[in-house]
Amino acid sequence: MKQKPLYWRKLLFTFLGSLAVCLLILLPIVIVYTTKNLAQPVTYATLQAEIDRPEVSIYYIPHQDDDAIAFALSIAHDVANNIPIQVHLISDGANHDLQQNMASGLHYCKWHNTNHSFPLDDQDISRIRTQEFLASMAALNVPPDKIHLMNLHDYQTPAAWTADLYDQLKDSVKKQILANHAQYPNALHHCSSGFFDFDGPRNPVHLACWDAAAEITKASLIQADRFAFYRTYVFYQPPSHRWSQMTMNFSQFLPQHRISVQAYQAYDPANGQYALGMHSVPILMNNTIVDGIIYLDFLNNTVQVPNNVTVL
Ligand SMILES: *[C@@H]1O[C@H](CO)[C@@H](O)[C@H](O)[C@H]1NC(C)=O
Ligand SMILES: *[C@@H]1O[C@H](CO)[C@@H](O)[C@H](O)[C@H]1NC(C)=O
Ligand SMILES: *[C@@H]1O[C@H](CO)[C@@H](O)[C@H](O)[C@H]1NC(C)=O
Ligand SMILES: *[C@@H]1O[C@H](CO)[C@@H](O)[C@H](O)[C@H]1NC(C)=O
Ligand SMILES: *[C@@H]1O[C@H](CO)[C@@H](O)[C@H](O)[C@H]1NC(C)=O
Ligand SMILES: [Zn+2]
Repeated sequence: MKQKPLYWRKLLFTFLGSLAVCLLILLPIVIVYTTKNLAQPVTYATLQAEIDRPEVSIYYIPHQDDDAIAFALSIAHDVANNIPIQVHLISDGANHDLQQNMASGLHYCKWHNTNHSFPLDDQDISRIRTQEFLASMAALNVPPDKIHLMNLHDYQTPAAWTADLYDQLKDSVKKQILANHAQYPNALHHCSSGFFDFDGPRNPVHLACWDAAAEITKASLIQADRFAFYRTYVFYQPPSHRWSQMTMNFSQFLPQHRISVQAYQAYDPANGQYALGMHSVPILMNNTIVDGIIYLDFLNNTVQVPNNVTVL
């Protein structure tokens, strides 16, 4: 008769003991897991530390020229610090206005004091812009096997960029980011600041990485502090008006930055060099080449930005 309560008490103690052991093991796992996965607001300090020493850096360059204008200092910083990098060029380089400027004879070039009539069609423009991009990458010592041409068509005008075409572009960039994340889970993704950085209507190729990143973080697939967003059009402003949510002084990499820009200024038509980058955005090229600052924005922020960019 006395054995029964003893038996139950023993069972209860065993049960409680096991429960305690289980909790002791599980609790830290749960705590680590939840704190790791809670959406942490991106702060100046976390992003600065990330930019300073990323485990892997992955760049998404909108166009052939944005690398030199906006990203060159950071790429040079990563290369100098032996940080593994990957560079994805988004656009195919299509630019019919530029083709007209270089080939139609109908546009005056202040730089060369002439109307250019080079025998260049739209395909030539894409090809030569990409050559300039590859020369800029070579100037920055980016190994060729780390350079990836996404070759997505740039429809150029707001009318041609229908909502469907824009979604296709954004989804391609999104897939690329997620594929990179699967391979390099701790990578920092460097995009252009398409939402905050514009000169007239927002440029779809600059916006795609921003929108893709916003969707990815909203779905909790990657944390917001894995993204940094770079401004390009900010270089239309005089230095005192260049503004972003965060800046970093990378002026020690100005020499590399300069030769990256010079890849877009190389002009020797007899040898197939047309300085297309310089013909396309001379002010941006001139202004960025002497600026050692990178201009960055955060994805998740509450800052409202007075961003009505005036062209100098
Ligand atoms: C930003 O992150 C916070 C959590 O830190 C979240 O509550 C908020 O919804 C996010 N905002 C946007 C616009 O994603
Ligand atoms: C050169 O282009 C300008 C427009 O910028 C035009 O007014 C001019 O007539 C052109 N010159 C020639 C020789 O076609
Ligand atoms: C960036 O750093 C360099 C070298 O330390 C310095 O000369 C320059 O004034 C700094 N630029 C800004 C805008 O702070
Ligand atoms: C760019 O700089 C070059 C050399 O300093 C100068 O000749 C040219 O006029 C500048 N172009 C613009 C658009 O500011
Ligand atoms: C730009 O923004 C400022 C501050 O909000 C405003 O005073 C100015 O009128 C704006 N300029 C244009 C061209 O919209
Ligand atoms: Zn010219």
